[in-house]
Amino acid sequence: MKTRWYKDAVVYQIYPRSFMDSNGDGIGDLPGILQKVDYLKELGVDAVWLSPCYKSPNDDNGYDISDYRDIMDEFGTMQDFDRMLAAFHSRGIRVLMDLVVNHTSDEHPWFQESRKSKTNPYRDYYIWRDGTGPEKKDPPNHWRACFGGSAWEYDETTGQFYLHLFSKKQPDLNWDNPKVRAEVADICNFWLQKGVDGFRCDVITYISKPGDLYHAAQDEVVVGPHWKAYIHELSERAFNRFDTLIVGEAAGIDFRRACEITREDAGLLDMLFHFEHTDVRTMFARNQRSMSLRRFKRVLFRWQTLPKNCWGALYYENHDQPRSLPRFAPAGEYRAAAAKSLAVSLLFQKGTPFLYQGQELGMTNCVFSKEDYRDIQSVNQLADARRKPFGRIAEYFAERYLQRFARDHARTPMQWSGAPNAGFTSGTPWMKVNENYRQINAADQQKDPQSVLQFYKNAIALRKAHADLVRDGDFLPIGEKDKNVFAFARRLGNRQLLVVCSLSPKAVHFAVPAEFRTGNEQLLLCNAETPPTLGAVLQLAPCTCAVWFMETK
Ligand code: GLC
Ligand code: CA
Repeated sequence: MKTRWYKDAVVYQIYPRSFMDSNGDGIGDLPGILQKVDYLKELGVDAVWLSPCYKSPNDDNGYDISDYRDIMDEFGTMQDFDRMLAAFHSRGIRVLMDLVVNHTSDEHPWFQESRKSKTNPYRDYYIWRDGTGPEKKDPPNHWRACFGGSAWEYDETTGQFYLHLFSKKQPDLNWDNPKVRAEVADICNFWLQKGVDGFRCDVITYISKPGDLYHAAQDEVVVGPHWKAYIHELSERAFNRFDTLIVGEAAGIDFRRACEITREDAGLLDMLFHFEHTDVRTMFARNQRSMSLRRFKRVLFRWQTLPKNCWGALYYENHDQPRSLPRFAPAGEYRAAAAKSLAVSLLFQKGTPFLYQGQELGMTNCVFSKEDYRDIQSVNQLADARRKPFGRIAEYFAERYLQRFARDHARTPMQWSGAPNAGFTSGTPWMKVNENYRQINAADQQKDPQSVLQFYKNAIALRKAHADLVRDGDFLPIGEKDKNVFAFARRLGNRQLLVVCSLSPKAVHFAVPAEFRTGNEQLLLCNAETPPTLGAVLQLAPCTCAVWFMETK
């Protein structure tokens, strides 16, 4: 059933709340996405992944679902969804949904039932335990929730605690219960039968919990004991019955484990998102990098060595990460060049690239004041800091951290034009619009042949023109120790691509190994007005990138 179409695809992630508002309530919606289908077609993407658009009370912007078979009120109706799906499909663009099934909303009817009594038929859909301590009012263990506080919440009605690895409005499902697994398979089939083309599986390695919750260490939940068996079952019951792309968000999976998980014959995930390059190594570096370029390359180049029957997902941005500008490349004077250089470094690696909305414009981090944060994680982090003994100091450090790493940076409204609110809404936007929208927006970039947007279109088209080389070619790292330049080659038979991307705000030199100085090279793409000459040493102006095609010597 699986054609593995995704090996040639570029995927674009939409965060519906911040993409396009069609009715002036300040919140992005499905009819808004429908208006922009042609924009995405022109960009050249092959698939979109929608962050959750199911019914939700929005404690965590849709990652807390109260009905898996219906659409969030603010986003529209199921009819709007069907119309949007048909519009994408008629343009040859596939649609992936976000599958959030580690937890539901506490407003989901299953949980409403579950909390009623210890004998309710839905009790075992969730993870309930007696408390500890003399009064049994202390939580079963010391686990912390990702958004702060204990991972356990006491529920008066039955006098027990339930587990929530995220907010207390996101109770964890009990995947050891076969009924839960059957429900999830049904939900997947519901959407697959509707015609969606796959899923991005939210925190999927967390779904299975350690056997003895009273004594398990928190680490044990990141990659739980049975999660692979449960996903395998889901593949057989749903995923593999259709021509899907299944990508898992896989915190805690390192390179070694990824090989066994993404093997084509394993029946688990087609690819996964790892987090090794988004680690924060240098918290307050002046150049705003979260890790050195050398380390960044070391991590990503290693992931390029996945065995032949495995596949990788490539990304620099998503809705949980700050913008790649200034995180991985300079956002000041050389912002546009840097955005293009990063684009090339990503799009020509082996694997399926995922772009996040606004990345194709070179959108940047935002300047926020304390009141601007909307993400539950940021808001809680600030509140927790204030409660500490030296609250003012703790708050200062929390703020400095958020100014660089808050998830809010990715969630500011999409910058469509120089009109008020960046053309995102005619009303009051649900969160701050980045003030740089007059300089950085889609409408202006559509008119400018030198824009980041146009460059993305060219790069994506080029990737298609050399599809077999980009899909199957060997990956050859170049200059791994270089501190400024991200460079590699792709080689298939006697054809190769040489890809050189400076990520430095200074002019730099880069040594080109003899095997790539064939004398028959053809420059395919470059972000500089005067492209560098391919010799033993390349002279690269700030953030210059270039792609050459050549035959091997
Ligand atoms: C994933 C999502 C994130 C969400 C969390 C809980 O990490 O990407 O946005 O907050 O899961 O569902
Ligand atoms: Ca709206």
